[in-house]
Amino acid sequence: MTEEDLAKIEKVGESQGGKGTGCGEAVYGELKVEATSKLLASLEPPLSKTDVFYDLGAGRAIVPAAAVMEFGVKKGVAVEMSHGRVEIACEAVDIFNGYLPRSLSKLVAGKLEVVEGSMLDASLEDATVIYMCATCFRTTLMRQVLYKILGVAQRRQQAIRVLSVSEGFPLGPIYESGAFYPDSNNKDQPPMFPGVPEAVKHRVHHSGITHVVASWSNHTPVHITTIYPASGEADMVKDVKSVGLKTNCTLNIDRNRNAIYQGATKDKEYNPNALAHQARVSSMELKLKIAEKLGAEPEEETK
Ligand SMILES: C[S@@+](CC[C@H](N)C(=O)[O-])C[C@H]1O[C@@H](n2cnc3c(N)ncnc32)[C@H](O)[C@@H]1O
Repeated sequence: MTEEDLAKIEKVGESQGGKGTGCGEAVYGELKVEATSKLLASLEPPLSKTDVFYDLGAGRAIVPAAAVMEFGVKKGVAVEMSHGRVEIACEAVDIFNGYLPRSLSKLVAGKLEVVEGSMLDASLEDATVIYMCATCFRTTLMRQVLYKILGVAQRRQQAIRVLSVSEGFPLGPIYESGAFYPDSNNKDQPPMFPGVPEAVKHRVHHSGITHVVASWSNHTPVHITTIYPASGEADMVKDVKSVGLKTNCTLNIDRNRNAIYQGATKDKEYNPNALAHQARVSSMELKLKIAEKLGAEPEEETK
């Protein structure tokens, strides 16, 4: 990670106030290969072709790639602020293209988009499921993402499911220490931010915790939350504006999950003996392939 990437990412965290969780937002970690598939397979109702799946802080874009290619969602969006990690994700998109059979159809049934920028600037207007590996995301950042999702759910009048690794959404007041409780050395400190208004709390439904194997711990909690639309004026939140972000690379696939080559990649040599001879490629195969090509170990580990 470059100094520039690190500074940009830390600036977004710091702009929200409060302290971090002990590791900075830029720190990297991933779920293990099998854990990604297991987690997505455990969703009830299951992921389907009507879903649009976002990963906020997507690193190498492995999770949204699995959502598209293994679970058939219509769109996976990887939002990542580190330019270096976006470049790796786009290299992976190119590898997917190289390993997926070439489509004879022009019809796009699913796509993976890699988008560079801050999760706070990303438009989540079409999101139905959001994933965040939030181990190092400070409480105040989680709160701002929560308000953003509450805004989208109320505008669209549709529930949005969220899977957040390590950290759930904070509903209580947030103190300077970054936690939900006052700094233990200063019991009288006033909260920096009040809790989510009582009328709004019912829209945030924590439906459970599951545990997964991640690169830093074999028993990492994943909070499963559903954010519901407002039922009237009283449980609405103020909009959090999104600037929208540029897409750096896209992989389009047809309904048999064959890659649809486009533009510059049209003349790319296709290797019929490559891994995905069959139409469907499991995310595990893909992830292993990517890991082999891009380096098996994440550059840093969380905690
Ligand atoms: C722990 S990694 C998770 C990688 C990936 N989601 C996964 O589970 O495989 C967290 C990622 O969030 C990114 N990140 C941190 N703050 C961000 C922000 N404000 N906007 C976008 N990405 C951010 C970091 O650069 C890092 O790559």
